[in-house]
Amino acid sequence: MAILILDEQVISQIAAGEVVERPASVVKELVENALDAGATFVQIEVGAGGQRFIRVSDDGIGIPADEVKIAVMRHATSKLRTADDLSRIETLGFRGEALSSIAAVSRLLITTRHRDETMGMRIRLEGGQVLEASAVGAPAGTVVTVENLFFNMPARKKFLKSENTEKRLINQIVMNYAMAYPHVRFVLVHDGREIFRSPGSGQLADVVVKVFGLSQFKQMVEVDGEEIIRGRGGRIVVRGFVSEPDLNRKDRSRVILFVNGRAVQDNSLAYAVTQAYHTLLPKGRYPHAVLVISVPPDFVDVNVHPTKAEIRFEDANIAFSAVQRAVREVILGYARPAMTPRREPRWGGPVDEGRYAQMDFDFDAYEAEEATPSDYEDGPVRSRSQQPNLVDDEEMSQRPRTLPLLRVIGQIGAAYIVTEGPAGMYLIDQHGAHQRILYELLKQHIADNGTLEAFEVDTVTIDVSIAENRAVEANQSLLTQLGFIVEPFGVNVYAVRAVPEILTEGDVVTAVSHIFSVLQQTDLDTLLMHLADVAAIKRGAILTTDQMQSLVRDLERCPSPKTDPFGNTTILYLSADQLAREFGRS
Ligand SMILES: Nc1ncnc2c1ncn2[C@@H]1O[C@H](COP(=O)(O)OP(=O)(O)OP(=O)(O)O)[C@@H](O)[C@H]1O
Ligand SMILES: [Mg+2]
Repeated sequence: MAILILDEQVISQIAAGEVVERPASVVKELVENALDAGATFVQIEVGAGGQRFIRVSDDGIGIPADEVKIAVMRHATSKLRTADDLSRIETLGFRGEALSSIAAVSRLLITTRHRDETMGMRIRLEGGQVLEASAVGAPAGTVVTVENLFFNMPARKKFLKSENTEKRLINQIVMNYAMAYPHVRFVLVHDGREIFRSPGSGQLADVVVKVFGLSQFKQMVEVDGEEIIRGRGGRIVVRGFVSEPDLNRKDRSRVILFVNGRAVQDNSLAYAVTQAYHTLLPKGRYPHAVLVISVPPDFVDVNVHPTKAEIRFEDANIAFSAVQRAVREVILGYARPAMTPRREPRWGGPVDEGRYAQMDFDFDAYEAEEATPSDYEDGPVRSRSQQPNLVDDEEMSQRPRTLPLLRVIGQIGAAYIVTEGPAGMYLIDQHGAHQRILYELLKQHIADNGTLEAFEVDTVTIDVSIAENRAVEANQSLLTQLGFIVEPFGVNVYAVRAVPEILTEGDVVTAVSHIFSVLQQTDLDTLLMHLADVAAIKRGAILTTDQMQSLVRDLERCPSPKTDPFGNTTILYLSADQLAREFGRS
C-alpha cells in the first residue's frame, strides 16, 4: 500500500479506541465530566450493560449553548489552557478527548443548559457527525445519552465481555466515585432497576456502608493521617477505612485507592497498605481498604495514561511511607488486642444500624470469586533441607564461621529467634537473617553460573503500571538471567510462566509484582536483594526448632551476618556481662 495520511474519521476512531475501551469507560468519562461540572447529583442509567444505552444526568453547571458543538470536537476542553496547567490539574478531565471519542463510536445525544442561560441546547451526533442541534428548554445541568456504542467498530463490539462483566465494571466505577465524592448523590440504574444509591451526606463512612455492607464496615477502622511533605511543603492527607486484620481476602482487589479524587491503580501504594499489616495478616492474604489520599496537585502527574488510571508522584517514596504510616498507626492497635478496646468508628457517633439495615446492599460488584479453603493454608516454611540447591550443603559447611556456634532456645513474637552463644544471648530477626542467607546464596550462584534456573509454575497474570511495563520490557534479559519467564499478556498485563526456584513455594504474584515494581531503578545486585527479601521467611511465620536451627547454622557462615542486604540489623547481642550488670550481679 502507498503511504497516505489517514482521513479525519479514521484518525478519530483510532484515538477513540484509546479512551473508550468498553461501556464502563464511557460511564467513567461521563461521570467525571459531571463531577468536574460541580454536580451534587449524578444519575447513571444503563441498558444491557451499556450495549443498548448509557445515560448520565447531572445537575452541574451545564454547557453554554454556543459551546456545545465545540465540546464534542477533539482537543476541546474548558479545563486546561497551557501546557503549564498540566502540572497542577485539579479537575478529573483535561485532555479534551472524552466526548469527541465517545461521539466518534456511537450515537450521542446531549441536552444541556448552562446555569446562567435561559435556554438549553440539544445536539445529536452519529459517528462524530452533528446531525441536529436545536435550542430546547431544559433544567440546568447536562444529560448525555450514548446509544449503539461501537456500531461502527465491529471488531471492538465483538470483543466486549458478557453483559454481566460490563455491569460489574460499571458498578465498580460508580461506587468508586461515590466513595471518592461522598457529598455527591449517585444513583445507578441497570435496565430500569435502581441498584445503588449513595446518600450524598458528605461522610465517606455512609458510602462505604452502602458499598460493602454494614457487617464488613463494622470490621473496618478509620484512618486519619496527615503529614507535611518534608523539604517541599504541602501536605499528604490519608483518610479512609481499612479492615481489621481478621477481615482479609486472597487478592488486592479490595484495596481501593483515590488520589486527589481519582481512583488509581498503583501497585506501590497498594503494597504500602499491605505492608502496614505485615505479621498481622496470614501469608498471601490482603486487607480491605478504602483510602482517599490528597496531595498538592503539583506533587502528582496525572497525565500518564489516556484513561488516567495511573499517576506518578514527584516522590513516590514519600507517598508510600505516608500511606504506610497512616495505616500502620491504626493497625498497630490490633497488634495488641488485649489492650485495645474495639473501636467505634470516629466519624460521628455509633452506626445507626436501623437506618442502614434494610438498605444493606449486598453487592457482588466487588466480590471476586470466593476463596477456597486452600487459600488459607500457608505453604510450609522451607527448612534447610528444602532450601533450593543454590549452593550445596557440603560447600556451605566449609565456609568460614562468622558467628560462634549458637544454640536455639525458642522463638518470640513469631518473628525473632532466641539463641544462646558462648558469651551471651543472641536475638535474631528471622526475616532479615534469612534474607541475608538467601542473598549470599544467590550472589554466589550467579557468580558461579551466571544465571538462576527458571522453574515452571502454574501461569499467573500480573497487572503492571505503564512505567513497570516499560521496565519489564527493557529488562527482559536481566529477568531471564534471574530465572523469570514472563510474557506480555494484553495491555499492561504479564503472564508469568517461570520463576527462580526460591520463589516457587511462596506467593508468586506478590513476589513477582514486587520485583516488577523495583525493576526500574535497579541493577542486578539490588534485584538479588529484593529477590532474597520476597523469598525469605516472613515475620509472623511460626518455625519449628529444626527450621530455626538450620537457619541459624546458615547464618553462622554468612560473610556479613549482622545485617540484612539492605543494612538492617539482624542480630541483637546481649553479653553475659551486660546481663549480669542488668541484674545487679556484677
Ligand atoms: N456534564 C458536563 N457538564 C458541563 N460541562 C461539560 C460536561 N461534559 C462535558 N462538558 C464540557 O465539555 C468539555 C469537553 O468534555 P470532554 O470530556 O471531552 O473533555 P475534558 O473533560 O475537558 O477532558 P477529558 O478528555 O480528559 O475528559 C469539557 O471541558 C467541559 O467544558
Ligand atoms: Mg471529560
